[in-house]
Amino acid sequence: MAKYQETPMENHEADGIKEFDNNLPRWWLYGFYFTIIFGIGYLVQYHFMGSGNVMRDEYAQEVKEAEAKYKLAGVGAANAGARTMAVFKDAANIAEGKKLFTGANLCYTCHREDGGGLVGPNLTDDYWIHGSSVDSLVASIEHGYPEKGMLPYGNNSKLGEKELMQIVSYIVSMHGSNPPNPKPIDPAVEKQEAWNVQ
Ligand code: HEC
Repeated sequence: MAKYQETPMENHEADGIKEFDNNLPRWWLYGFYFTIIFGIGYLVQYHFMGSGNVMRDEYAQEVKEAEAKYKLAGVGAANAGARTMAVFKDAANIAEGKKLFTGANLCYTCHREDGGGLVGPNLTDDYWIHGSSVDSLVASIEHGYPEKGMLPYGNNSKLGEKELMQIVSYIVSMHGSNPPNPKPIDPAVEKQEAWNVQ
């Protein structure tokens, strides 16, 4: 146990409060030494050797991981300025697209499950209001036509890049399918277009 001084320090008084000049408690002092040693270690590792991740590196690392993750899932290249807008040809992804089209995204309520059109235009023919390229299909779905009743993504809940392309792929798969009783072409707004999706 440290010895404590019992006489106050001379000439050391403020507003009637006097101070003793006692030793610091050991636990406190060792804690303090520890922070000094830790601080030196930290300084060397993070600032001299550069082997620790400073915030900037951590950020870069996280961005890299996110990019890898979302590329794997086929999502999220949008912000990188390089969208991978590949149309799926395989049955599984087209089936997923059909599920979205005929499910909670509500596309079928206006375009019909077979794409023949009802409130919205026929999506299986060669006549388009906003264009038949993959870019135009993506833009139509992403932005919707709210003034005509079509919300972005059908029901206004954002879809990932992969789901978006699955829907596009379902539409592409229906091209030229001639469903019965399609919505008539509206020549005032729909233009015939060469189908330019490979
Ligand atoms: C509430 C009805 C409604 C829903 C739901 C809806 N659409 Fe539409 N859609 C429309 C209407 C109406 C238009 C025509 C817009 C115009 O006249 O400019 C349209 C246009 C489009 C076009 C452009 C067609 C063209 O000729 O250029 C595409 C593609 C499309 N919709 C796909 C979808 C998909 C995919 C979904 C689901 C994610 C969906 N729509 C949900 C009503 C709807």
